[in-house]
Amino acid sequence: MKKHSQKPIVHITDPEIERYAEGMTTPESSAIQNIVDSSDRELEYIDMLSGKLVGQLLKTLIRISNARRVLEIGSFTGYSAITMAEALGDDGEVITIEYNERHQQLSEAHFAKYDTKKKIRLLKGDARKLVDKLEGTFDLVFLDADKISYSLYYDKVLPKLKQGGLIIADNALWGGTVLSPDDSKSQAIAAFNTKVAEDERVEQVLLPVRDGINIIRKK
Ligand SMILES: C[S@@+](CC[C@H](N)C(=O)[O-])C[C@H]1O[C@@H](n2cnc3c(N)ncnc32)[C@H](O)[C@@H]1O
Repeated sequence: MKKHSQKPIVHITDPEIERYAEGMTTPESSAIQNIVDSSDRELEYIDMLSGKLVGQLLKTLIRISNARRVLEIGSFTGYSAITMAEALGDDGEVITIEYNERHQQLSEAHFAKYDTKKKIRLLKGDARKLVDKLEGTFDLVFLDADKISYSLYYDKVLPKLKQGGLIIADNALWGGTVLSPDDSKSQAIAAFNTKVAEDERVEQVLLPVRDGINIIRKK
């Protein structure tokens, strides 16, 4: 896999431990492996793709919470949308939002090929605006777009989350830079984590899995 485009690589977990954990985690489906391979061929960097540990964690959370309606903010090439769709029942739905045209094309092609039960709907445009237009409630929201806007997305999606529903925020440790945030992205993520920690409407656990994953449950 090609390496990081966005930030210095700081390993939250010892790479050997991470490899072991991946080896002991349920394998990705062949569809998901194909998405990783074709994303790697098509793009210079694929470090934005959430990967096996986060993918299987999302699947597990969807299964144990019986989630049916899922919102994803940030599709990239469709890895996590397809992963989540695989864990949903036949009546499940993933709405995923993407504004980058190249990423829209790639994810659309992957959905056409691998979303055989047509559970995924791609919304093209800026999630900062599109989220307001979504109707109904969601059981689970996967937050994985521009890090600067995490707090904005949180404010917009929390009212749309059903009671007991989950917001899963990826990259919540941002390579460890949240410890002494000195650039706009790490400051935004640190502010987001603090906002969540101080919000009495939710309970949360920030797991040091891969780049950090904040699992937030609406009370
Ligand atoms: C980290 S990647 C998503 C990875 C994907 N969830 C996965 O695991 O494969 C973030 C994606 O969000 C998109 N994005 C960033 N800001 C956005 C915005 N304001 N509206 C819609 N999409 C956005 C980027 O173009 C990129 O494709």
